[in-house]
Amino acid sequence: MKESFKEKIRLWKDLYIRAFENATSALPRVRGVLLAYNTNIDAIRYLDKEDLERRIEQIDKEKVFSLIDSPPERITSLEELFGGILRSIKLGKAMEWFVESEEVREYLKEWGWDELRIGGQAGIMANLLGGVYRIPTIVHVPQNPKLQADLFVDGPIFVPIFENNELKLVHPKEAVMTEEELIHYIYEFPRGFQVFDVQAPRENRFIANADDYNARVYMRKEFREYFKGIAEKVDLAVISGLQVLKEYYPDGTTYKDVLEKVESQLNILNRLNVKSHFEFAYTANEKVREALIGMLPKFTSVGLNEVELSSVVQIIGDESLAKEVLEGNVFSVIDAMNLLMDETGIERIHFHTYGYYIELTQYRGERIRDALLFAALAAAAKAMYGNLENLSQVRNALSVPTNERAFIIEEELEKEFAEVENGIIDMTDRQLTFIPTKIVASPKSTVGIGDTISSSAFVSEFAMRG
Ligand code: AMP
Ligand code: GLC
Repeated sequence: MKESFKEKIRLWKDLYIRAFENATSALPRVRGVLLAYNTNIDAIRYLDKEDLERRIEQIDKEKVFSLIDSPPERITSLEELFGGILRSIKLGKAMEWFVESEEVREYLKEWGWDELRIGGQAGIMANLLGGVYRIPTIVHVPQNPKLQADLFVDGPIFVPIFENNELKLVHPKEAVMTEEELIHYIYEFPRGFQVFDVQAPRENRFIANADDYNARVYMRKEFREYFKGIAEKVDLAVISGLQVLKEYYPDGTTYKDVLEKVESQLNILNRLNVKSHFEFAYTANEKVREALIGMLPKFTSVGLNEVELSSVVQIIGDESLAKEVLEGNVFSVIDAMNLLMDETGIERIHFHTYGYYIELTQYRGERIRDALLFAALAAAAKAMYGNLENLSQVRNALSVPTNERAFIIEEELEKEFAEVENGIIDMTDRQLTFIPTKIVASPKSTVGIGDTISSSAFVSEFAMRG
């Protein structure tokens, strides 16, 4: 190994240890975080080769295989369900398709699951921020049936309810209603997983989404009518779940109707000086994607991965830059981040990919790097344990080796930029912060790692600001 790499290993190890201490001691400073809008039930099944092959043999196998390369992107039959699962395995890619057929929904329920977890970006972040980091967290739940409420861990996690015209915050378990179970069936597979002649190049998951509420970004009455009272109780907000919006709905409404409501809530957050983060999940519809980019000036911060950044560049930049971002060229990623900041004026952009994170900010400080390092520990812990329950699991991730491939990228950055210090790059009017992450060789599951990264970095960075 190169001498410089040995040094880097030592250096980043020390930085990781210090970051964990700095971040965890700052977390109690956050008065409250608001998470909206998507919460659901994730029914996770770890795929089994024999079971899957048997199920495909029972239906039109040829049809299933023909759908692998001509994806319908939605599920109206069992063939489409299994075509989607096989496509996700073949490409090693995360996919999420909506289940339109009642019959398939019943089949999915009968097939069952190995594990139920709280799902949706907002739900996942609530269990992390409230349950693990112990920060008072208000979460939006479109529906609150017992099955879902029981998946929230104990801790300062709240949903707003109105009693005698007064806003009250209670744990979801204390506000259970006879409402719908919004279930997302998640099929996880490890790297190398093989079914017939289809093999997974990397671990990932396919999601069959049987949830009519989050698909339209349904907002509870409390959030529609009393948002100001809720927002007054927090310092920070994370908005997610807008990726599912469609251009038109059968009843004549459009994505614009939903985004109008979201915008008026953002205006309230801004008036109250609540810092807000937008979690940019992959948004298939281009018009919706463009509208979401158009809303970024109202946010403080945005988080995205390579697929999402590339999809943004398709709208605000050109095809060749979009392609380079997707291929993982770090300088193209930096160009794209600068372009997005120029276009929207947003103060903070956090990019995460397999092996490293980069953040571009209109302010400076070592706390930005500390927050990213803390987020990488949380991500590694999430990959290791599946479900995070306490901070000592996050501390345990200190023992996961730092990704050495990212050192090559760090050296490229050091060659390109004059001022680079331990991942911090001075760009005169902006700071660029780079960190190598920790990669868990065989993760327990993959769902929710991105949410863990983004929320840990955003919240701990603002906590460390004091
Ligand atoms: P997303 O693309 O938003 O779903 O987030 C996935 C992120 O999780 C990737 O960008 C990686 O940074 C991180 N990640 C995925 N697999 C692992 C792993 N095995 N160990 C650590 N981090 C991981
Ligand atoms: C999407 C899925 C949800 C999952 C989440 C994880 O929102 O619909 O099921 O929990 O992504 O990021």
